[in-house]
Amino acid sequence: MCGIVGYVGRNSDGTAQAVIMEGLARLEYRGYDSAGVALVSGEHVEIRKKSGKLSNLRSEIESDPLPPSTAGIGHTRWATHGGPTDANAHPHRGGADGKLALIHNGIIENFHALRTELGAGGVTFTSETDTEVAAHLLAAAYEDHGDLTEAMRAVVVRLEGAYTLLAIHADHPDVVVGARRNSPLVVGLGEEANYLGSDVAAFIGYTRQALELAQDQIVTITAEGVTVINVDGSPAQGRAYEVTWDAAAAEKGGYQTFMEKEINDQPHAVRDTLLGRTDADGRLVLDELRISEASFTGIDRITIVACGTAAYAGMVAKYAIEHWTRIPVEVALAHEFRYCDPIVNERTLVLSISQSGETMDTLMAVKHARDLGALTISVCNTHGSTIPRESDAVLYTHAGPEIAVASTKAFVAQITACYILGLYLAQLRGGSFADDAQSVMKDLGEVPAKIETLLGRMDRVKEIAGFMADTRAVLFLGRHVGYPIALEGALKLKELAYIHAEGFAAGELKHGPIALIEPGQPVFVIVPSPTSEHGLHGKVVSNIQEIRARGARTLVIAEEGDEAVAPFADEVIEVPATAPLLAPLLTVVPLQVFALWLSTAKGLDVDQPRNLAKSVTVE
Ligand code: M6R
Repeated sequence: MCGIVGYVGRNSDGTAQAVIMEGLARLEYRGYDSAGVALVSGEHVEIRKKSGKLSNLRSEIESDPLPPSTAGIGHTRWATHGGPTDANAHPHRGGADGKLALIHNGIIENFHALRTELGAGGVTFTSETDTEVAAHLLAAAYEDHGDLTEAMRAVVVRLEGAYTLLAIHADHPDVVVGARRNSPLVVGLGEEANYLGSDVAAFIGYTRQALELAQDQIVTITAEGVTVINVDGSPAQGRAYEVTWDAAAAEKGGYQTFMEKEINDQPHAVRDTLLGRTDADGRLVLDELRISEASFTGIDRITIVACGTAAYAGMVAKYAIEHWTRIPVEVALAHEFRYCDPIVNERTLVLSISQSGETMDTLMAVKHARDLGALTISVCNTHGSTIPRESDAVLYTHAGPEIAVASTKAFVAQITACYILGLYLAQLRGGSFADDAQSVMKDLGEVPAKIETLLGRMDRVKEIAGFMADTRAVLFLGRHVGYPIALEGALKLKELAYIHAEGFAAGELKHGPIALIEPGQPVFVIVPSPTSEHGLHGKVVSNIQEIRARGARTLVIAEEGDEAVAPFADEVIEVPATAPLLAPLLTVVPLQVFALWLSTAKGLDVDQPRNLAKSVTVE
């Protein structure tokens, strides 16, 4: 939530502006309520900022150009305190002379008390934001210290909540200072230039050398170098790493939208996540976790914490992990976890799932679990992010950067990673499923090609979506692993097409939701494989008949060759056959494609749906 970029270079020319605007374009997915940039120029700090998308800021700068500069900061906002107006857009000036500018991601929880205190001291505010409080505090501290880094250190100890702050001062045209607590900030290491960003996308066009910062650290960048200190002033060092993807991976690659590209990236996402996790005999090897086998064998309960799509990946994984390991698995929405007095102890594995690695709700759940003594493992897609840092171990998904707000390729990669972990646990624990681990991994290895085949058949789904632009509500039904897929299908439609959509466990229909069925009501049904256990397939086919008898328009996702569904389906969308537990990796695809093209048919912004942001860094 909110994208932040900072830059210092040697030459006073248009580079600072160009780097910052490019960084903002790459970070716009983090928030698009307003955007702004501040550059140091001569004795002044020049600011341009505008509500709405980045294109508005571009127009503003075109009509009122910025001067050449060596250093600057830029921000793209997801509004928390104060509406999405020009005045509330960042950067904010601090001090009576206005020589300092500051940007912020997060929430300063004690801002009201600080604002009252500053107001009593004669400070006049020009916005409703919590950020402006930090700007004025920093300006006052700078007056006392005469040094921006020291001033930052003095200010952060007064702030409660989560924040990344970046600041520049007209007296220091060669410096940007940043600070972070529970909010992302990474450093990009260039030649004769250094960078700061909410994530590496901010500077990926310039360098792939990055530095990960720990909590409560303050970083000062100049063109020549980077200095990191702890809040107590002691010297610190970030962890250097090389970003494994390049700028092209964060571009649309010829597709109209990032979401379309990312849907099509899914075979790679699964393939790359599987890569390097088995030995020559096909046995799972997860040395990367650096957790002793003994720690795993003591586990008697698993709690998965996640939000949104990641939580649905967790729900899918629950069925598989319980089946393979016989360890009870619970899935908790991360924002509920802390407040339900969770039963967690040293024998509990708390598995967090997060694409961004920055979701504040999930981060807080992980911290709570650690406090309770749990073993914490994170499944994450973003190197250098906070949740892996705060966990005992991380299993990275290798989906590559996911830019569209709607999660797609991260979802299939998360399921894949959770399956790898589940099979690894089964392998360690022995028993009947230990022997099966290798054959399941072999089946998983065939999934990418099957997704490719499926993607090649999506024309009809696109066509159906095109006809449905006026639809007011869509229902989704599934059972077993198809149930979370129904929830995910509904979520995609809500967030992208702003259509009322609900997912149900198909067995629950007769307990109430069937009353929603009226003639013409579109209902997607995810049908399990005819090879599923316990006669599940037949039960779902009966569910289809029940809703069809009441006039529903049935859009049925079924395994190819499943002839039992055809008589009751208005549309059959066939997916390649696979093992029942692996089916979610395929059945989700038509639902993603449907949401994408329905949103497009309605003329909506697929990649940046209203009110949302990619990375939810506030609670
Ligand atoms: O970065 P995370 O995986 O932690 O994000 C969790 C959710 O905010 C995210 O999946 C959200 O639900 C997506 N917009 C859904 O498409």
